[in-house]
Amino acid sequence: MSDIRCIGICTGGGDAPGLNAVIRAAVKCAFLKYQWKVIGIPDGFDGLIWPERSRELTLKDVSGILPRGGTILGTTNRGNPFCYKTVENGHEVIRDISDEVIANAAKLGIDAIISIGGDGSQKIALDLFRKGMKIVGVPKTIDNDLSATELTFGFDTAVQTATECIDKIHTTAESHHRIMVVEVMGRDAGWIALEAGIAGGAHVILIPEIPFTVENICNYVTHREGYGKRFTIVVVAEGIKLPPELKQISRGGSVGMLIGDAISLVSRKEVRVSVLGHIQRGGSPTPFDRVLATRFGVAAVDLIAQGGFGKMVCLQQERIKAVDIADAVGLMKAVDPQGELVRTARAIGICFGD
Ligand code: F6P
Repeated sequence: MSDIRCIGICTGGGDAPGLNAVIRAAVKCAFLKYQWKVIGIPDGFDGLIWPERSRELTLKDVSGILPRGGTILGTTNRGNPFCYKTVENGHEVIRDISDEVIANAAKLGIDAIISIGGDGSQKIALDLFRKGMKIVGVPKTIDNDLSATELTFGFDTAVQTATECIDKIHTTAESHHRIMVVEVMGRDAGWIALEAGIAGGAHVILIPEIPFTVENICNYVTHREGYGKRFTIVVVAEGIKLPPELKQISRGGSVGMLIGDAISLVSRKEVRVSVLGHIQRGGSPTPFDRVLATRFGVAAVDLIAQGGFGKMVCLQQERIKAVDIADAVGLMKAVDPQGELVRTARAIGICFGD
């Protein structure tokens, strides 16, 4: 029999469509299955610095939030109670306020916490767990680059949004006989670029996992022209590794713009660039993401009931499981350049610039 009466829930790191679906599922399951009280902690673990800002989440509070993007709790990708930045006597100081955060959680009557977040948030959750906090994790990132889980919610929505945008770019590119570059998110991995690129019928896909040259891209454009295709769509993941000649001129701005300029210079053709940016993080989650987020939310509550602290829920072989957060943090899931998805793309003539 669990001694849990009240749980806290917080969302940390960049938002992702489906966060509200996790919150809703966790509140419903905690209340209906276990009769626990749930406290919503605002803005990640930062919320525990000012406990008075936390508030109870009732069934009424989560009613209607399933289709909403963002997070009703707010989030931050800066806060870390182990190295909290503050200004004292006009100087910036970094302090470890984790004891305060743990004490404030106890003051609120919180017996255990669900931390929904990406790798950075899970690392903080692990450190708090090691200091005695009862905590479970729910993985989140639109980039889908956490190795412990086959999928993270938000990714499907981001791919859908990016695909719709590529579809729209397609018609104008074809009409104007232009090269169109579309920059998508993916800080370290090329999953969004690869899947949205395939789904949107891109001709060139550039991802961090596959080195490329601008010359190869331009040769491919010429090759397409050889069989009458006078337009080319280039999907670029924001995290691509630039070849040395581009690294030299990069000013740290949009890589899509940089690639567009370089292609235009070498090919002497008209190029237009669209940077999709945070559009991919917004909007209503797809049904797939809503279901995955709901499964994660329920599994996190069950994990607390079973005393599975220090663990994170995940999806493996299409089933919801739990892994030790310690074994999950810092392990990135990159696209396999020899994997089936890349081979499929190559088989239909998609160029990776290599
Ligand atoms: O990790 C998710 C992500 O959306 C990345 O794809 C992107 O590089 C980053 O977050 C953007 O973060 P921010 O919201 O701080 O600009």
